[in-house]
Amino acid sequence: MGEQVGRAPRGDDAAWWRGAVIYQVYVRSFADGNGDGTGDLTGVREHLEYLRDLGVDAIWFNPFYVSPLADGGYDVADYRAIDPAFGTLDQAEQVVREALELGIRTIIDIVPNHVSDQHPWFQAALAAGPGSPERARFWFRPGKGDHGDEMPTHWVSSFQGSTWTRTTNPDGTPGEWYLHLFTPEQPDLNWNHPDVRREHEDILRFWFDRGVAGVRIDSAALLIKDPALPEVPDNPGPGEHPHLDRDELHDVYRSWHAIADSYEGNRVLVGEVWLEDPERFARYLRPDEMHTAFNFDFMSRCWDAKELRESIELTLAAHGLVGAPATWVLSNHDVTRPVTRYGRAESSFAFDAKRSGTPTDPALGVRRARAAALLVAALPGSLYVYQGDELGLPEVEDLPAAAIQDPMHFRSHGVDPGRDGCRVPLPWSGTATPFGFSPAGTTSAPWLPQPTDWADLTVAAQESDPASMLRLYRAAFAIRQNEPDLGDGPMVWITTGGDAVLAFARGPRFACVVNLGNEPVELPAHDHCLLASGPLDDGRLPRDTAAWLRLTVRDPAPVTT
Ligand code: NOJ
Repeated sequence: MGEQVGRAPRGDDAAWWRGAVIYQVYVRSFADGNGDGTGDLTGVREHLEYLRDLGVDAIWFNPFYVSPLADGGYDVADYRAIDPAFGTLDQAEQVVREALELGIRTIIDIVPNHVSDQHPWFQAALAAGPGSPERARFWFRPGKGDHGDEMPTHWVSSFQGSTWTRTTNPDGTPGEWYLHLFTPEQPDLNWNHPDVRREHEDILRFWFDRGVAGVRIDSAALLIKDPALPEVPDNPGPGEHPHLDRDELHDVYRSWHAIADSYEGNRVLVGEVWLEDPERFARYLRPDEMHTAFNFDFMSRCWDAKELRESIELTLAAHGLVGAPATWVLSNHDVTRPVTRYGRAESSFAFDAKRSGTPTDPALGVRRARAAALLVAALPGSLYVYQGDELGLPEVEDLPAAAIQDPMHFRSHGVDPGRDGCRVPLPWSGTATPFGFSPAGTTSAPWLPQPTDWADLTVAAQESDPASMLRLYRAAFAIRQNEPDLGDGPMVWITTGGDAVLAFARGPRFACVVNLGNEPVELPAHDHCLLASGPLDDGRLPRDTAAWLRLTVRDPAPVTT
């Protein structure tokens, strides 16, 4: 089933990805179809109509491959098979097909920087020993110092701690070290090795052959290392960092782009590219490389008009350099949930600053998260929604210690709470855990415990509450689907309401206005309000509220007889 079939969601089909709403499914926590407390593909299939009704154009699945789950599936042991906890390859193919029948495309997650330490290649490398061709696919090195007991470099892991682990020889003596930018269970591949390139090109084809519309590329700026393995300089210039944003990376993505292009149906590459320099970021989005990449700058900013305006301008300018559409991301499976983050004085996101125990005003967080949802849904480009954000789920900050699974928590020696708090299984219905996450009568508890007070946050409860977050998201996406000027295209700032207001027009008839100040503001001249994130105050826009406005009088409705 190499061909993409089904209803084109909206707009120009060839450019679907330029303005799509993409919903991120963290399979383990979405819905449990078989009653073992872990989400699975059966659960996803059972809720595809929910996603259609929400109004999304595509799903992005976090890794669902065979994995020991040392890092939630980002430690892949077999890229061509589904982990039995999540289902089977047949079920994956069924999901892709069934989603497409509802007009929803599928994007899968490719993890090229590292494999699981249980992957056959790594096991073979350990067994084969120093100097072997099997080890050449990874970064094995002797240690430094007289006894080889000093690690080859002092590179620091983004999961904290060192990036090298020493092996043990078959005779029990200490052996070589191997590189892992994340956990020791995730050895880094050597992208200078032709086997590694060939294998990943083949994996891409394997999944494109199964009808997926795109791939999300994990850790996309990390793959290539300087083979000399130098230390990280103090202020590396462009392309000088030994394991980040190396110039040689672009050839990899050019070859992947060519593979995507060789398929029918506009298959796309979406990069996870964490780079501060917008110009270096944009290089990945040149026309023959990735199609889009996550824009993390926006979510790394505080709830502050100046900050957000600067981020929007930087983002659009950088993307404009290469003609790529921007993406907007409020959160994902690595990030503190927006309703919690925006309820804090310091509301930006930073990896090393997950702040549990920080004073949080939940009502303020919800108000701002609602406004943020309308803001990002009106900005030019595509939009990512992490499962549960459409329900306004908060970060779960009181998970019992015994439940925590995230290696970030353990590698920080418990200082970082880790990312489990945004990965708690979704509440679908009912008044007590598992809140419809698992089938009725299931005895296995959800793999992470849900808070007992989530009854008001379930899908069922929110469907019948016109003021709920879910109803706001549905209304926004319904408008977006029918509003030709939303999604991809230009925007123009509007001056109104002072410095604390962000306002912009999309085409002649649509405006979005967000009040980030403390006082209500007058709205610019408009015909009527299409949607607001909260009640207006006598026609004025209250603080932490967004409104979508119809700017001119609508054309008269056609007369039907
Ligand atoms: C980024 C993923 O989003 C994160 O969850 C994962 O831990 C790292 N890459 C390593 O694969």
